[in-house]
Amino acid sequence: MTATLSPRLAGVLARNAAYIPGGVSSINRIIDPPLAFVKGEGAYLWDIDGKRYLDYHAAFAPHFLGHNFAPVTEAVIEVLQSGASLFGAGPTLLEGRLAELVCKNVAAVEKVCLQNTGSEATALAIRLSRAVTGKQHFIVMQGGYNGNHDELACNVFNSLAEIGPRVSPGEYPLRPLGAGTTIEAAHLVHPINFNDLESVRYVCRRYPVAALITEPVLQNIGVVRPRAGYLEGLRALADELGFLLIFDEVKTGFRHAIGGYSEISGVKPDLVTYGKAVANGYPLALLGGKREYIDYIIHADPAKRPLLSGTYNGHPVAVAAAIRTLEYLLAHRAELYPRIEALGRRMEEGLREIFAAHRVTAAIARQGSAFAYYLMPEAPVDFHDLLEHHDFERDVALRRALIELGIFMVPIATKQCSISAAHTAEDVSATLAHVERAVASVWSRR
Ligand SMILES: Cc1ncc(COP(=O)(O)O)c(C=O)c1O
Repeated sequence: MTATLSPRLAGVLARNAAYIPGGVSSINRIIDPPLAFVKGEGAYLWDIDGKRYLDYHAAFAPHFLGHNFAPVTEAVIEVLQSGASLFGAGPTLLEGRLAELVCKNVAAVEKVCLQNTGSEATALAIRLSRAVTGKQHFIVMQGGYNGNHDELACNVFNSLAEIGPRVSPGEYPLRPLGAGTTIEAAHLVHPINFNDLESVRYVCRRYPVAALITEPVLQNIGVVRPRAGYLEGLRALADELGFLLIFDEVKTGFRHAIGGYSEISGVKPDLVTYGKAVANGYPLALLGGKREYIDYIIHADPAKRPLLSGTYNGHPVAVAAAIRTLEYLLAHRAELYPRIEALGRRMEEGLREIFAAHRVTAAIARQGSAFAYYLMPEAPVDFHDLLEHHDFERDVALRRALIELGIFMVPIATKQCSISAAHTAEDVSATLAHVERAVASVWSRR
């Protein structure tokens, strides 16, 4: 796409790119059209040229209460003024308070470890599952993203040609997301398709599997929901075959319910990771789960003790943000989750009506505040289904048309959109009016 850049935008792009590879601090932030944001408030973003956007990207989902949510910002200011610092020795009152809040309110968490990023939490989950089971292999989902580290960063943003034809029961070749990952991963990591229980059995018959890690709803390829009985089936297989079930709730946790999708489905994993919405935009992540497993961190036998360490773990700023976020969610849950569900439903119905009116083949998938449109007849059940049927080109074209109109859905195909508590019914109506225009424009170009 060729856009005419303002001198300000061109300036920041050129300066950043001179000193930072790609000019951005996470490679998936390179977007087309290029944009640089300078302010976020509530449901809105402002770019460097002062243009305002209604935001559905939410920085890949943390801003569940909206950007710069005042109570959380105040908690951060208060903690900075309180004399709290990063001490790096001994326990802190803040981390204890947060851990207690989580353990008392999230059924899947009896004990919890504090970290900074989702990737750290999932890496620790894998390490812990190996320490507990004494096994090395694990199962991941194609189309699931569980973090940037060697063993988990695979099989999600690939093409059909890279993944190969559908197999079931069976596993897929490991496709790392980048160069330089360890060769060991190829032997120990087994990507299968979501919603396919037979393949779990298939892999477990062949390899000693320590854990299966999955998002309970795949939210890195839109919103791919578990079929009825699937998560229960995973639970039963974990119990039967002796691997740990890890739910990666980095995106779903606190957003869909205080106890994440585990609470909604009633399926309790052995280990669970959280991040993103837990601190509404501040860098905090959690690994929680059953006490008997989490306590391996302090196992009496050093040979069974997986390493948990991190200079910034439990940083007071992030912990204060998480405590205030959680307190707010707990105090307002009865009103907040149903209100956001209603906004989501209106968005879903509106999108469906618009695509139908324009005779565009499309399906809408949603869980609460998270929604995605798919340009294919039915919402996909797994990554293969998506790769085989979705119109990736038009998906990006629609996002670009919406950006022109001031609606920010990140211009990357299939990326899930997030409604926040700051969005209003008027925002949703305005968005739908713009979607109508954008669909008309994109589908008029044959
Ligand atoms: C489900 C899931 N797990 C883990 C991660 C990694 O989290 P982070 O980017 O904080 O390392 C992400 C990030 O998008 C995610 O969506």
